[in-house]
Amino acid sequence: MRAVAIIALLAPAAALQVRSRPPALRRGAVALAAGADDDATLSPKSPMAGMVLLGGTEPAFWSDLNEETREGTFVCAKDGCNAPLFPSETKYDSGTGWPSFWAAGKDAITVDDGGFLSAMFGREVKCASCAGHLGHRFDDGPINTTGKRFCINGAALRFREGLGDRALPCEDAAPSS
Ligand SMILES: *[C@@H]1O[C@H](CO)[C@@H](O)[C@H](O)[C@H]1NC(C)=O
Repeated sequence: MRAVAIIALLAPAAALQVRSRPPALRRGAVALAAGADDDATLSPKSPMAGMVLLGGTEPAFWSDLNEETREGTFVCAKDGCNAPLFPSETKYDSGTGWPSFWAAGKDAITVDDGGFLSAMFGREVKCASCAGHLGHRFDDGPINTTGKRFCINGAALRFREGLGDRALPCEDAAPSS
């Protein structure tokens, strides 16, 4: 019932603005309708979340969370998980088209060893709570931070605004200068 109402509200706006709004925002409207039954304190869940959490990668510049700059916490998008993963303080614009962070929350994620191709393809990053696939970690992050780049699928994340239930950066995440 609630989802239907939101679709009805969005439909006229989407029809009017379909030419002027960038594609990411139109997709956001669809995601909002799809996630309307979920935790109201979280940003909408992407319809692509299931595919990504199982190991897929969303297209570059696909996620609305690329542009999310508010203070808060990015949490796991898997149903029933919602584990706090990345604090907003560690988010930065890597220009890659995927939400990027220079550190994760303490004990929030696991990172595999990547094998001999890790320099090219990164090391796989998973949610420590549910083992859902989040993205990859590379070693070309900002040099004034950890030097790491956590390149994370926006579809694997949801954003919780505000300072409640924080993912706190791990101890080694302090900027080096
Ligand atoms: C790192 O340097 C960039 C560019 O000067 C700056 O925008 C950013 O805030 C710095 N990050 C941290 C964590 O100090």
